[in-house]
Formats: sequence, C-alpha cells, structure tokens
Amino acid sequence: MAIKILLIEDNPDDVVITRRALNKEAYELEWEGDPREAWEKISANSYDLVISDYNLPGTTALEILRKTKEQGKDIPFIIVTSQGSEKIAVELMRQGAYDYVSKDDVYAEVIPGIVKRVLERRSTLLAKQKAEEELKQAYEKLKTAQEELVRSAKMKVVGGLASGVAHEVKNPLAIILQGIDYLEKKISGGDENVSLTLRYMKDAVMRADNIVKGLLDFSSITELKMSGQDLNQLVKDALLLLKHEFDKRTIAVVTQLEEGVMPVVMDRNKMKQVLVNLMLNALYAMGEDGILKIRTYTQKCVSGQVPFSAGEKAAVIEIEDTGKGIPEESLSKIFDPFFTTRRAIGGTGIGLSMVQSVINMHNGNIEITNKSPSQGQGVRARVMLKLA
Ligand SMILES: Nc1ncnc2c1ncn2[C@@H]1O[C@H](COP(=O)(O)OP(=O)(O)O)[C@@H](O)[C@H]1O
Ligand SMILES: [Mg+2]
Repeated sequence: MAIKILLIEDNPDDVVITRRALNKEAYELEWEGDPREAWEKISANSYDLVISDYNLPGTTALEILRKTKEQGKDIPFIIVTSQGSEKIAVELMRQGAYDYVSKDDVYAEVIPGIVKRVLERRSTLLAKQKAEEELKQAYEKLKTAQEELVRSAKMKVVGGLASGVAHEVKNPLAIILQGIDYLEKKISGGDENVSLTLRYMKDAVMRADNIVKGLLDFSSITELKMSGQDLNQLVKDALLLLKHEFDKRTIAVVTQLEEGVMPVVMDRNKMKQVLVNLMLNALYAMGEDGILKIRTYTQKCVSGQVPFSAGEKAAVIEIEDTGKGIPEESLSKIFDPFFTTRRAIGGTGIGLSMVQSVINMHNGNIEITNKSPSQGQGVRARVMLKLA
C-alpha cells in the first residue's frame, strides 16, 4: 500500500518544490492549501504523515497538530518553518512534532531524507507498541491460567480432605445434637441461664453441621448426570426451594424468563444447587428487603468469555440483587474455597467454589460483578451454558 502523505501548504510554488523532491519515492502525496479543509481531511482520512507549512492563513501548523492529537490521532507531523526560526522549531518538537525542516536553499535536498527517517521511526514505534500489547495480553492470559490452576489445585485438596473429615465429624455432631435436645427437654422451666447456654450450644452445632453438609456437597461433585433440561423450569424449581426464605423477608422476586429458551444439557440437580447458592448469596446480601431479578435468555458471546468463542450462542441465567455489592478488594477472591465475609453468621465460603466447579464441568462460564453505578447497588451473576 502506498504511503499517504498530506501536504498542507498555501504557497503553490513550494508545493511544486516538495512534489518534485518527493517524486522519486512511492508516496501518494495529497495537497491542501486551506488549513480548515486540511483539518477536515485529517479527521476523515488516515494519513501516514503530514508535512505542513508552519505559517498558514489564519493559523499555524502547531494548531493543527494540537487538534489532531486531541482527536486521539497519532500521525507524525513534519513542520516546515521559515528560515531562522529555531525558537519555534524547539517549541514544535516539544509539542510532539516528529521533525522540522527549514525552508531554505537545501530544503529540496533534505526533505526526502527527513521523510524517510520519520516514517522509519514511526514504523519502529508501531512495531514496538504492538509487541508490548501482545506481551501484555500474553501475560494476562498466563495470569488467568495460573490463577485457575491454583484454584483447581486448591479445590482438589479441599475436595479430598473434605469428604474424609466431613464423614468423621458428621456422626459426633448428630450425637451432640441429640444430647442437647435431650437436656433441653429434661430441664425445661429450670434455670434460664442453662437453657440459654443450651441454645447457644445448639446453634454452634448446627453451624458446624452446615459446614459439614457444604463440604460433603462440594466433594461429591465428581461426575455429572447429563440430560436435556428446560432452563426456565430449573429457575422455577430453585425459586420454589427458597420460597420460605423470600417470604420471611420483604423480598420481591421478579422473573423474566424468555419463552422458548433452547434446552441445555446439564446435570439437573447440580445446576439447581448452583442457582440456589447464587440466590442465597443474593438474599443474604440484601438482608431484610430488596428485589431479586432473574432472567433467562440466549445471547451471542463476546471474546474473553472462555470457553465460548466470540459469536457463539449461549443460554444465560442472570441473577441480580439490590444488596450491598462486593467490595473491590474481594472481587478476585469470592471464588476461592473458604473465602467468606459472613463467617461470623454461618458462612462457609464453599458456595461459590462449588458453583465454579460445577459450571466448569459443564463447560460454561460464570461472571459475578457489581452492577454499574447507574443501575444502582447490587450484584449481577451471569451463568452461561452451552446450548444443546
Ligand atoms: N450477591 C452477592 N452480594 C454481595 N456479596 C456476595 C454476593 N455473592 C457472593 N458474595 C461474597 O462472596 C463471598 C463468598 O460467597 P460463597 O462462596 O457463596 O460463600 P458464603 O456464602 O458462605 O459466604 C460471600 O461471603 C460474600 O462476601
Ligand atoms: Mg454462599
């Protein structure tokens, strides 16, 4: 492709000189005498280089350079100054001109060399920027891959340990719970402090039992029982399971389920667990009141939504809450096993790691983000699944 140069010059004689000087090279030289027109041309086209006279009718080359930069265009400028204006030349370079040349006896001889030099410098710079960009992307990919690796390694260890420990702990917990029940009955109506103590004990045991259950659930995710499922029905079933939780609070549930969302091949129970976990997280984040919005739809993926390729269609379940959102510093940790901000009130931090691993096993994708400020506070979880 020929190199496109715009020459801004109001003196026709100088245009002839420049044209003649650059004649031997394969440049596509366009001439413009009116600075305003020149500016229009720069905005509308992509030039490789601008050679501009410094003094133009009603303006200067510096003005045009500044406006070009303001528009985010990075075009090299060579500015032609009149003789003896070294001061201007210095200012030009400071403002980002690539080079300058003074209009003197040797102008015609030096301009081809300068143009060549500027274009070379320019292409080196572009190549460097491209290499840097590629390096940055490669680094990002590596980082994601590494994080994923660490996470899956952690999950493996957790999974292995968990089921062993959980099985061992389950029975003693059940015995303690029975004991507490027995004592409660025996000393009913007695010392208030005693019954209070028993209640605390019971709460603590229940909490431990909850963790054990979570661990067992989590470690049981080894194989999937796949079949074609209606996504909307799945959402309804998950909601039904949590109905009493919503009813206890003033939480409005809004569903927007797209008719005829294509069936998805999945492990029905595991995926229901996924939805229940996400909905419970939303619920806990909202506290006593709020709006839980659930949508299903199909959508074309964009690049970066691994493992989908850009343009591939996916089934999406979106769960949105009006809760307190996730602090910036927690966002990268929420999928880590045992990361929880609700430990004191019974959180285990297993939920999202279980969600992640089930979705990975389905070859799907999950994104959990804070809603954008214009959409108000809260979190949006988006599960994307392969269409059958
Ligand atoms: N919808 C949400 N809104 C606010 N924070 C959330 C939401 N979902 C998850 N989180 C954060 O992610 C953490 C981890 O979630 P999870 O793995 O389900 O564990 P747990 O629910 O036991 O805390 C939560 O403790 C909470 O800080
Ligand atoms: Mg949870």
